[in-house]
Amino acid sequence: MRKAPLFAATGLLLASSLALAQTPYTEDSTYRGLGGKEGIRKITDTFLELVLADPRIKDNFADFDIPQINQRLQEQFCEYAGGPCKYSGKYRDKTMDGTGTVRDMKSVHIDLKITDAMFNALAEDLQLAMERHGVSTYVSNKLVAKLAPMHRDIVTASAPPAPARPDRGRFLATGGVSTVEGAGGGGITPWALITGYGTRDSWGGNVHYTRVQTQDYSLGTYGVAVGVADRLELSVARQDFQGDLAPLNLLRIKQDILGLKVKLAGDAVYDQDRPMPQVALGIMYKKNKGIGGLGALGVTNVKQLGAKDDRGYDYYLSATKVCLEHSLLVNGTLRATKANQMGILGFGGDKGDHVKLQPEVSVAWLAHRTLAIGAEYRRKPHNLGVDPEKAYYDVFAAWFPTKNVSVTAAYANLGTITIFNPKTQKGWYLSLQAGI
Ligand code: HEM
Repeated sequence: MRKAPLFAATGLLLASSLALAQTPYTEDSTYRGLGGKEGIRKITDTFLELVLADPRIKDNFADFDIPQINQRLQEQFCEYAGGPCKYSGKYRDKTMDGTGTVRDMKSVHIDLKITDAMFNALAEDLQLAMERHGVSTYVSNKLVAKLAPMHRDIVTASAPPAPARPDRGRFLATGGVSTVEGAGGGGITPWALITGYGTRDSWGGNVHYTRVQTQDYSLGTYGVAVGVADRLELSVARQDFQGDLAPLNLLRIKQDILGLKVKLAGDAVYDQDRPMPQVALGIMYKKNKGIGGLGALGVTNVKQLGAKDDRGYDYYLSATKVCLEHSLLVNGTLRATKANQMGILGFGGDKGDHVKLQPEVSVAWLAHRTLAIGAEYRRKPHNLGVDPEKAYYDVFAAWFPTKNVSVTAAYANLGTITIFNPKTQKGWYLSLQAGI
């Protein structure tokens, strides 16, 4: 029964995404969504205006024939959108009509020494141009889905090292938000995405504060996370769990978590033409700092509640796929853990003291460039007799007004926490992330 809201929410999301997938949405609906030839002309005009005013990339276009690039871009976007046009330029893709010359986007751009950040800057300008002309995010994502794999041909250079200045070169929202354990991802489950906005040539970092408030407890988490070269993520977080209801109103348990995540393969954003997700391996070292507020009962350590240890490791493998074609993000995580309530009630217990594999799932609809709406589910082991631990789940909305700030609001269900209080703990979740 308890799982019904999660499955209702996930079901709703899946149903809506399936409905979207099943809509007779032919390629040429993208063309119509862009406003046909006239719409595409207006979009590329605005796009090139933005590009030529964009300090990140405008210098690359000096000395080039802008009206000609404009013309070719119109043809290319129109052809990719399924419209009645043929790109007439230097670049033809055999797969479009079987009659083109060899794939040559690389040779068009190779002398320009384009970096990851420059590619994304240009794509951002295109997204903005489409937005300004009232193109829906759903349609605009479809065009970007076609262009994103060109990253492999177009990006041929690395930016010179500038360690003091993060480039903030990745797309908005592609660092995810901060989980309650500090890693980059959703709210309760880590994703394979590397936190921050640093590209492969740079780094990014953020601080976060998250509060989950249920009827009887609250959990505050704060921490710092850094992503390096879009490959490695380091995070430090402190959790502060408190009881609000007598006789547990003085209860306070703190836990420190150190996290390390390494991207192993794939790219969640650029690999739009491949089924391969982005895959990352992570480890969290958790150290429970003891129990406060139960001194009268003589309880100061989680081991006195039956946990076998007050510190432990979680290992996880995450796979994240951003499917721009359907404006969806899907993540699956498999975690090997002994942690009770994430470690807040220690590790292992009278009912089990071995590492168990627990699945975690997130699905998000990329409703807008700045907004993701989704649901998450996280299964947990049940090691402690005093705590009939259940899965966590939530429905969330994450808003990314800029690359410096994100706000996530959610409704979370944390299951029951301790047998002394058999009520299902449900409540709101609010998280603020600020980054550079
Ligand atoms: C998804 C990304 C991109 C797409 C779809 C794209 C598409 C194109 C197309 C269709 C052309 C015209 C080629 C022709 O004349 O047939 C072109 C040329 C050009 N692009 Fe890109 N481009 C992308 C990324 C970039 C980036 C990131 C830069 C620089 C920051 C850039 C700079 C240029 C320049 C300067 C030319 C003129 C080259 C020439 O005429 O020799 N492009 N691009």
